[in-house]
Amino acid sequence: NKKFTVTSFAECKQRNEKITMLTGYDYSTAKLIDEAGIECILVGDSLGMVVLGYESTLEVTVDDIIHHCKAVARGTKNAFIVGDMPFLSYHINIEETIKNAGRIIQEGKAHGVKLEGGVEVVDKIKAITNAQIPVMGHIGLTPQSINMFGGFKVQGKSEEQAKKIINDAIELEKAGVFAIVLEGIPEKLAQIITDKLTIPTIGIGAGKYCDGQVLVTNDMLGMFSDFTPKFVKKYSNLKDAIISSTKEYISEVKSSAFPSKEHTFSINEEVLEKLY
Ligand code: KIV
Ligand code: NA
Repeated sequence: NKKFTVTSFAECKQRNEKITMLTGYDYSTAKLIDEAGIECILVGDSLGMVVLGYESTLEVTVDDIIHHCKAVARGTKNAFIVGDMPFLSYHINIEETIKNAGRIIQEGKAHGVKLEGGVEVVDKIKAITNAQIPVMGHIGLTPQSINMFGGFKVQGKSEEQAKKIINDAIELEKAGVFAIVLEGIPEKLAQIITDKLTIPTIGIGAGKYCDGQVLVTNDMLGMFSDFTPKFVKKYSNLKDAIISSTKEYISEVKSSAFPSKEHTFSINEEVLEKLY
């Protein structure tokens, strides 16, 4: 395996090779998905929901992202690490935006940042890239906007919405993002955007025509069950594995079947005699 860098994204699109991305929040999991060959690990603000148990992503802070980025960075050798910019970390002004993005790189050890939005965030994207920080865009069903959308609703079904999303994608490319996440939009709209752009699109709930795919690891492994969006494919059922393993552990401890000899340390008999 070799390192996946910011330029690898465009190279993959040119070669017609799909880009693979998963979320990661901790050292152990990052190490495993990196070893498996994942190309990009996103320390997403989805961590608020799947790791911290918040109601939405809106409660996540820059410190939360940095804390988890650090853990992921320690476990990652080859993947490109993207840190999500949380709600309010890029909305106030340019100075705070650069500072927050910079902290995710400098303290969190991420290689780039991702932020949600279209034309309305173009000035922030330009400022961050001017600070030499690669930016990934994110449009469509952007979870930080649920209060404006009125819930988790597929975006871009009407002509007006679809045209706005296409325009947003074009403006983001012009602003200098190296890739764009398309979330929760019709497959054919994602195809149009993918064809129009030179930079790659990474889809989640956006169909097969995107240049890459991303899923939330905890969804993909079947260990987050509060709700499962239509676009999630479960490649494992770790929830059942965790529950049945825990039940077995409980029953073996209760019955004294665990720990047995193989998990136990011994002491020399002569030493032992002197202890009675
Ligand atoms: O936070 C996240 O996990 C994301 C992906 C779903 C793209 O932004
Ligand atoms: Na996110």
